[in-house]
Amino acid sequence: MPTLLTHASQLLALRGYAPRLGVSMSDLDIIPDGAVLIDTGKITAIGTTDELRKQSKNVDELDCTHKVVLPGFVDSHTHPVFVHPRLIDFEKRIAGAHYEEITLAGGGIRSSIRGVRESTAEQLANHLQSALTEMSAHGTTTVEAKSGYGLDPASELKSLEAIQQAAEHWPGTVVPTLLAAHVVPPEHRDNPDEYVRLVCDDIIPAAAQRKLCAYVDVFCERGAFTPDQSRRILRATVANGLKTRIHVGQLTHTALELFAEFHPVSVDHLDHLTDADIAWLATSDTVATLLPAANYFLGLSAFPPARKLIDEGVAVALATDYNPGTSPTTSMPFVLSVACTHMKMSPAEAITAATINGACALNLQRRKGSLEPGKDADIAIFDAQDYREIPYWFGVNRCSRTIMQR
Ligand code: NIG
Ligand code: FE
Repeated sequence: MPTLLTHASQLLALRGYAPRLGVSMSDLDIIPDGAVLIDTGKITAIGTTDELRKQSKNVDELDCTHKVVLPGFVDSHTHPVFVHPRLIDFEKRIAGAHYEEITLAGGGIRSSIRGVRESTAEQLANHLQSALTEMSAHGTTTVEAKSGYGLDPASELKSLEAIQQAAEHWPGTVVPTLLAAHVVPPEHRDNPDEYVRLVCDDIIPAAAQRKLCAYVDVFCERGAFTPDQSRRILRATVANGLKTRIHVGQLTHTALELFAEFHPVSVDHLDHLTDADIAWLATSDTVATLLPAANYFLGLSAFPPARKLIDEGVAVALATDYNPGTSPTTSMPFVLSVACTHMKMSPAEAITAATINGACALNLQRRKGSLEPGKDADIAIFDAQDYREIPYWFGVNRCSRTIMQR
């Protein structure tokens, strides 16, 4: 039987099939006393409760009085395939060490490798499933999930298999990404180009052939992969029929135009940007995905220039960057809160960045990111009467229910 959600204090529809830019990020398309009709996993109508009650017979009603109803969050950047938290790095940073120093001392990404290599796909999938469950409890209905802590052919493919297995046990949508180019693993330290060759000639073709991912990501950064190595990896990605996304500008600047020919669906982090980068972003279809929970957790005082990006008309998305080193949070509402308090995004802009613009960062805007007929019934229901409460209350979970589809 169809379900009718009724009497939402505010229904945030965010209707559309393209990223919201500039001032349109502030328009949440709010319907007061809102209602949504759902049939077999799809939204079939939205409107006021009065309007929808008139046209809907034989429905299960779900009363949303005193609730804000919005599209489920699209968390378009996560690294959930890991086993152990990185508590030593955490304490070292509190004592004053920098992220890069910790990496050079044997901590950082490389210290998560062993846990993944020694686990079975089933064990990894179990960890992942708990994270996905936590995410949906906070209102997330679509998650992009990267490999990247196996860093050899077998362990990277095993990580992607674990993502596939966990996805089968979670009612929401999971988008797998290969991040074999996260850092150079220790066994290739003396010859990083040999690892780049392995990624290009073995891992990417195998992942593509086995249809284990839709995207390939690369960490282009000092201490990870050079722009030149990154371009080799992105070239192999396109040659294998996969789409690209890039970690760039987190610790140091790299010109974004170097990657224009690969049409990245999104470029992520962007702590270090020039006016030329912003001008390029504003004319491209690439989404700028900001991950301010990482800045928060690393104790940084600088944050990506969200205001400037929005004011220049760049498509901005927000995601958790869930990972054991820089962002151990599954909570999109927390990310929204940091985006408002530290990047000066308005609550409306933050919600847009986490829904329709996040969907665009995964090329899922035909199905996800807004509440309108034809789209998947991916819905978050918050204990709130005003959408601004979503980023306002922090450190607590006000999401009371999530409805989601694969
Ligand atoms: O997005 N920047 C690279 N990757 C992660 C950090 C991963 C880690 O420290 O384990 C990030 O912040
Ligand atoms: Fe990341």
